[in-house]
Amino acid sequence: MSKSFYITTAIDYVNGQPHLGHAYEKVITDVIARAHRALGEDTFYLTGLDEHGQKVQQAAEAEGKSPQAYCDELAISWKAFAESLDLSNNDFIRTTESRHKRFVRAILSKLHAEGHFYRATYKGFYSLKEETFLTEKDRRPDGTFDPAWGEVVELSEDNYYFRLGAHQNWLIKHIEENPDFVQPDYRRNEVLGFLRSEPLQDLCITRPTKRLNWGIPLPFDEEFVTYVWFDALSNYVTVPASLGDPAVLSVLARWAGEPTADSATQTQACCLWPADIHVIGKDIIKFHAVYWPIMLKAAGLPLPKQVLVHGWWQKDGQKMSKSTGNVVDPVAVIRDWGVDAFRFYVVRELDIGPDGNWTDAGFVARYHAELANGLGNLVNRSLSMLKRYRQGKVPPVSSELAPETEAISKRVIDNLRAHRLQAALIAIWDLVARANQYVDHTAPFKLAKDPAQSRRLDEVLYNLAEICRVLAVLLGPFLPSTAAKMFRQLGLKESPDKLAACAWGGLAEGHLIGQPEPLFPRRD
Ligand code: ME8
Ligand code: MG
Repeated sequence: MSKSFYITTAIDYVNGQPHLGHAYEKVITDVIARAHRALGEDTFYLTGLDEHGQKVQQAAEAEGKSPQAYCDELAISWKAFAESLDLSNNDFIRTTESRHKRFVRAILSKLHAEGHFYRATYKGFYSLKEETFLTEKDRRPDGTFDPAWGEVVELSEDNYYFRLGAHQNWLIKHIEENPDFVQPDYRRNEVLGFLRSEPLQDLCITRPTKRLNWGIPLPFDEEFVTYVWFDALSNYVTVPASLGDPAVLSVLARWAGEPTADSATQTQACCLWPADIHVIGKDIIKFHAVYWPIMLKAAGLPLPKQVLVHGWWQKDGQKMSKSTGNVVDPVAVIRDWGVDAFRFYVVRELDIGPDGNWTDAGFVARYHAELANGLGNLVNRSLSMLKRYRQGKVPPVSSELAPETEAISKRVIDNLRAHRLQAALIAIWDLVARANQYVDHTAPFKLAKDPAQSRRLDEVLYNLAEICRVLAVLLGPFLPSTAAKMFRQLGLKESPDKLAACAWGGLAEGHLIGQPEPLFPRRD
């Protein structure tokens, strides 16, 4: 079996509220996954939840619940959130699942057996909020810590540490030699700058059970649970392992310890690992581009091909914050405007890389200009005229706009292959604009009044209907339900889920279209 294209999102902290940043990350990942499927590749899209750690334990306690019951409740709303975004994910991982705990214990056992860990005593400062140890360098001149760290306490405790020093040089070399490993380039430079500037500190990979017990117990020392980031990063391999991926099992087979694959699924093994893309936000680069490759290399597993880093959204130029009420609730936007209006805005507004800014006015403006007046108007008037002047029957094939359409389709597909989603949407709207201009120039409503122009009217109506069909195909990865509606209105039974279908001439003479209906009604 050949390897599938495997793409993941970060797994969200279960105790947070699903917000615009989470929605954005899942939507761009979904567009890339759908594009690869539409290009004919087997594709596997994974998203999920990060459920262990101190914050979850404290939040559950505050509500008088067991951490597991607390996570189970929240997981329902997170899964509903993923559905509301119309994601095409193939699995949804929760780090409290037994398949995940088994995998984490297996990787810990192997790394321990091979001498990658040591036990030591730490004395110093610890941020409860970020679950991380702080050093003197994190202290401000007056001895205090930045409020971003939350409550900082002094600790003296034993933990296990992962030796990282020996990994620094090969990792630098790997990132230098593989420019695609971290993208965009300015993020790659950030990682290289960090790696070249100072020796890597060993990573603390445990928390003592007496202080925190909501975590995966160490297989070799019950007094400790696994540090939440070591646990969380492993999720990306848990799922391939649980699906019997030979690239993982061949390494696992040599591991002392528990069986990792679920026997029920082993027969239909998936070939997923290594991941093709981990999509993440800019705040968690170090975990994905430094710690994660080191964990994998130490365990004898291949490295992911790419860490694709997106920027952060603000609202009205300010950091989003629940306490000030400055938030965008994606669920409310989707309820009011539809999921495709939401997907369109976030992908069109923000390229993958820089930070973005949500404004309600910007959202409404794009909705009207690009969706209602642009795409919606084009489809509605093209199909309505075909109904009115030709009883919905497609005229003979005409290729007047075929060269321009094919050139734009190629631009869209090239951009999709390079994961330049915003550029792909811009190209699609160039075609929308061209077709709307064509309506204005050819004035079919005038042609219809002159029987001598009947052949010309046929040509115009064919070109418009065919462009609507091509647009649906190109839009499939971005706006799946709008694309499906367009196919229905065109009277096409199949799904707009194969990009090869954008070749000109798909609508056959005599085909009967369906009922035109507004795709994006104006809201004035
Ligand atoms: O970091 N704009 O979870 P998380 C864009 N559990 N993206 C944003 C954002 C914003 N305003 N705010 C957050 C975690 N994100 C860990 C991940 S992965 C093994 C473990 C992004 O819920 C953020 O950058 O805090 C991250 O990629 C994702 O949302 C989840 O953040
Ligand atoms: Mg976060």
